[in-house]
Amino acid sequence: MTEPAAPTRNADAGVSGVPIVLDEVTKIFPGQDTPAVDRVSLELPAGRTTVFVGPSGCGKTTTMRMINRLIEPTSGTITIDGRDNRELDPDALRREIGYAIQASGLFPHMTVAQNIATVPKLLKWKKRRIAERVDEMLTLVGLDPADFRDRYPAQLSGGQQQRVGVARALAADPPVLLMDEPFGAVDPITRAALQDELIRLQDDLHKTIVFVTHDFNEAVKIGDRIAVLGPGSSVLQFDTPESILSHPADDTVAGFIGDDAALKTLTLRTVGDVALGEAPTARESESPHAFAGRLRASPDEWGVVLDDAGRPARWVRGDRVESMPDLRSGGQPVGGHVTVDSTLQEALDGLLSTASATTVVVDSSGAYRGTISIDDLVDELRRIKHHHAGAEQGSGPA
Ligand SMILES: Nc1ncnc2c1ncn2[C@@H]1O[C@H](COP(=O)(O)OP(=O)(O)OP(=O)(O)O)[C@@H](O)[C@H]1O
Ligand SMILES: [Mg+2]
Repeated sequence: MTEPAAPTRNADAGVSGVPIVLDEVTKIFPGQDTPAVDRVSLELPAGRTTVFVGPSGCGKTTTMRMINRLIEPTSGTITIDGRDNRELDPDALRREIGYAIQASGLFPHMTVAQNIATVPKLLKWKKRRIAERVDEMLTLVGLDPADFRDRYPAQLSGGQQQRVGVARALAADPPVLLMDEPFGAVDPITRAALQDELIRLQDDLHKTIVFVTHDFNEAVKIGDRIAVLGPGSSVLQFDTPESILSHPADDTVAGFIGDDAALKTLTLRTVGDVALGEAPTARESESPHAFAGRLRASPDEWGVVLDDAGRPARWVRGDRVESMPDLRSGGQPVGGHVTVDSTLQEALDGLLSTASATTVVVDSSGAYRGTISIDDLVDELRRIKHHHAGAEQGSGPA
């Protein structure tokens, strides 16, 4: 297997991350005979997100905490950007490694601003620089600084706490970010939103992120690389999500993925990646007569009426339009929609939960971009399966 993309992307000016190398790292906790982590060797590429996924108790947290030396290895070495982490002083470790954990781990007696300021303060930044950084971080994770900086953690929702946890981990602009099930404690919808947020941040920041999860779908969605770990953190497979899904190393990995590998690849593609349907559209101000004409000339049975801002408002049926007094009412509200950034998995979930065969697609401003249907998703699944079969011949990625 070759990796044509890796060196060029790592050479990007935008990459702020650094490589982390674990070499034969072992941890035996006092009083135990079996190692919690047994001779693990892994090279985590700079500027990429590597996900550790594996069953409870397999040593994910222990492995991660040895990177920032919250746990000292019994043997083996860990280098960060080529330097042995035992030679880095505590300040350097805090500067270089951000840490976010499940349930956010915020200090309850400190405000949001004080929480985010923790590491900059330890590093003795000037007050003004800290205050600016706090606001910058809150904005980055999608929270309004004026509204949130003086609140206490108990005055935040679970998802907001997680966002502050990520803001705190990023505050000193560390090249490395360790995230231990950071979104484990929130509901599935908030979780999906936080995952999207992390992907967006990482597109800009290019940190070296180590992300621990139990959830293989989450691993596939956010990982550039996935390390599937077994007992003692033994590395069962370390590869891209696509390769693991299409070529699981053994039965254990295959079992972990489940038997819907092609389905899971739906989390790898977004709605914007597929050809969207082009249902005819009309503005509310247009005459029903003109729209009826366009609909007759189209193979589509339904058209979409857009409001003045170009946002989809209602579905109307071609054979009913002519008799409508105007396009400002009537028809059926579009109900749910997906965005071009939604994964195909989310689009499928949306279609299945609304029980309609087609849904409208909007861009980030809410403007109409097209439609997507169950049939489009089924076609895409067929292509994915076909592609995986083709990849066996060694033809390489398209
Ligand atoms: N401080 C400790 N002292 C003794 N044993 C420990 C200690 N911390 C962890 N262990 C043991 O080491 C093993 C690995 O634990 P670890 O927390 O790394 O697992 P994990 O993969 O993160 O699990 P989970 O998915 O449940 O968080 C477990 O068997 C655990 O009981
Ligand atoms: Mg753990």
